[in-house]
Amino acid sequence: MKYYITTYGCQMNVHESEKIAGILASLGYESCNDIADADIAVFNTCCIRENAENHAFGNIGMLKKLKSERKDMIIAVGGCLPQQIGKAEILHKKFPFVDIIFGTHNLGKLKDYILKKQKQKKAVIEIEQSEGEICENGDEPLRTSYPNAWINITYGCNNFCSYCIVPYVRGRERSRSSANIISEAKSLVREGYKELTLLGQNVNSYSNGSTDLTFPRLLAAVAAIDGKFRLRFMTSHPKDFSEELAKAIAENPKICNCVHLPAQSGSNAVLKAMNRKYTVEDYLKKIEILRKYVPNCAVTTDLIVGFPGETEEDFNATLKLVEEADFSSAFTFVYSPREGTVAAKMPNRVPEEVSKERIMRLIEAVNARTREQSQKYVGKTVEILCEDYDPKKQKYLGRDEYGRMAYFSGETDLVGEFVKVNIGSVNGISLYGKIEV
Ligand code: 5AD
Ligand code: SF4
Repeated sequence: MKYYITTYGCQMNVHESEKIAGILASLGYESCNDIADADIAVFNTCCIRENAENHAFGNIGMLKKLKSERKDMIIAVGGCLPQQIGKAEILHKKFPFVDIIFGTHNLGKLKDYILKKQKQKKAVIEIEQSEGEICENGDEPLRTSYPNAWINITYGCNNFCSYCIVPYVRGRERSRSSANIISEAKSLVREGYKELTLLGQNVNSYSNGSTDLTFPRLLAAVAAIDGKFRLRFMTSHPKDFSEELAKAIAENPKICNCVHLPAQSGSNAVLKAMNRKYTVEDYLKKIEILRKYVPNCAVTTDLIVGFPGETEEDFNATLKLVEEADFSSAFTFVYSPREGTVAAKMPNRVPEEVSKERIMRLIEAVNARTREQSQKYVGKTVEILCEDYDPKKQKYLGRDEYGRMAYFSGETDLVGEFVKVNIGSVNGISLYGKIEV
């Protein structure tokens, strides 16, 4: 029996799909590379922006024909999209051939839902409204991103940024116990994983008094595990980014000198309307502190254009921030109204063509920075963790500690190895080089 999982959205979802794979494996399913061969197809969905939702709707819709030919195939839709109020019913109406619909809070029960569905004709639709307690000892995830491994440290979010649906679909923030996180990290290092990423919507507020360690201490404790590996974390909320964290990065060489710190906007008026709880001056101050302790620290960010009421002046302030913060890369988004959030009811929507024009200008500004920074790599030797082989390019690929992707040739299987690569040329964001022996 075969399974095929389609994942949309963030790292949190990527890791949750590994948990889904673990559940399916425990039922005797094996993965396959073509959805047409699958006995069970799972869609792990995202709803952060409208296009993420549309994507999922489109791909689920395309299974109608396959399902009509293969009546015994089970189709399950889970994750953030059905967790929104009323969406499970919409999904069921639109796609009556979907067998199982579940949300973010009951992923751990997927096994029961599959067993239930095998016994009944009717679809199994189960969404839990409350986040409940953290289930620490669920099925082992079936990890698919060797040599990288994701470790959840918090679930949910309490911040309610006015544009964001996450607190509504992932519930209030809960922290896992530090002992369980450290023990998971130890096992992963023992199993040979070379890069651990601690995951949470706002890792900086890990604990909030509910566990024995603060985030910087947890990070230091994981970094103290024996063995050669890299340690990353995401995502950090600027309001909670502390000097103690900057010190922890500086003091522990295993923690990569690379921080993802979403700024969202460079305008104080927009930041206020977004309920981000910091000003652009506060943000720049945090970066200054970070770079005081970690001088070469790469900072990556998320930026939104076209938030309701964003003026040309506000947008220019975002362009200015790209220069001032010297981001090494940025994810850029056009604001997408999400039903149920505060911003969705705000007046002064920015017309689509204005947002489109702004995002083009923003992408160009970010890319110009990235290209400028790339040029500095030429002639240098960097340590790369080899992550994969690209058969099209016929090259291995991996990243340096700052998150830069490099391509290089190699004779033996290098995936999971740290290699020294001398950079000969750059192409936009990517580096090309030769292994040094
Ligand atoms: N519209 C556009 N971008 C959004 N993000 C979150 N919600 C929205 C929205 N409604 C972006 C933020 C966040 C990233 C994960 O997605 O920049 O940091
Ligand atoms: Fe969304 Fe803000 Fe929470 Fe991030 S911190 S998940 S942007 S509400």
